[in-house]
Amino acid sequence: MLKIKKVLGLVLASTMLITMVSGCGAKETEEKNKVKAEKLTIYCGLMEDHMVAAVKEFEKETGIKVDAVRMSSGEIMGRVKAEKENPKASIWFGGPADGFIQAQKDGLLEKYISANAKDIPEQFKDKDGYWTGIYKGYLGFVSNKKLLGEKGAQAPQSWEDLLKPEFKGQVVIANPGSSGTAYTLLSTVIQIMGEEKGLAYMKKLNGQIKSYQKSGTAPGRMVGQGEATVGVTFLHDAIKYREEGMKDIVLSVPKEGTGYEIGAVAVLKGGPDQEAAKKFVDWCLTVKAQELGQTVGSYQFLTNPQAKAPKQANELKDTKLINYNLEWAGSHKNELIEKWSNAIK
Ligand code: G6P
Repeated sequence: MLKIKKVLGLVLASTMLITMVSGCGAKETEEKNKVKAEKLTIYCGLMEDHMVAAVKEFEKETGIKVDAVRMSSGEIMGRVKAEKENPKASIWFGGPADGFIQAQKDGLLEKYISANAKDIPEQFKDKDGYWTGIYKGYLGFVSNKKLLGEKGAQAPQSWEDLLKPEFKGQVVIANPGSSGTAYTLLSTVIQIMGEEKGLAYMKKLNGQIKSYQKSGTAPGRMVGQGEATVGVTFLHDAIKYREEGMKDIVLSVPKEGTGYEIGAVAVLKGGPDQEAAKKFVDWCLTVKAQELGQTVGSYQFLTNPQAKAPKQANELKDTKLINYNLEWAGSHKNELIEKWSNAIK
């Protein structure tokens, strides 16, 4: 009898244990499902491989499932505007802050001051918290050494040099309407020369252009492949192509000084996954996230002072920069692009 009671007791105890364990398991699964259910759609202005690496790492660290698509600055702006009433994405990740300033003025961004933004110096973030800077890139010239040699030409040393007869039909830039890089070029030229002279310059430059590309990453690649002699691009992109094997690439910078971008991240207004979006912004400001770009050939300077800039950016550290008026450039973006497109007609 005693034996039967003991056995019954044991059976009861193990049943309770199983119930407790499986109860626990159910709770865990529920938690996991909750995390699994979190997702995020991102419109991304970075190089494709940088985007892929960032998404992979963020998903790994947070369990949030990300859908990301690479577009140029103007394309992202167009998409976000078109989706204003029914936003599909919650994050704009990368690309010059000029576009973010315009988007904020058009009511497309959600204010979010990440706790991690305290680590980012004032000059790299919006004072009202609509966007936060994650990197800094310098604009410059990219030339093909071999093609320069064939023409007996020197790499351009000033904006005026792009107008030399030997570069006729040999200059490749992107379209400022689609590309953040090309808008940085347009706004830099106007900031250096003034509006009238700047637009007249862009008109003359138009006579030198081989083709206007959609993305500012194209001129470096085309010049590296020998499809054009010179281009204007963010210099870190040209370094990437040179490292990837386009050995004829040479860099130069205008002696008058050059413009630069502050690449930004922001939460899109009314997007579907606002909590996940905020976690993404928090993540972008960390040292680990900022140092990820250099592992896939993105060599911008970084905004978190604790993050180590890529050693490849070293060759750009003495570049003469203009005092780029970002606020002005951002708030006049639509207007300047329209003036430019009228000027080159
Ligand atoms: C590349 C650069 C970024 C830049 C972006 C602009 O991805 O590495 O630094 O912000 O191009 O792209 P876009 O196509 O708009 O000129």
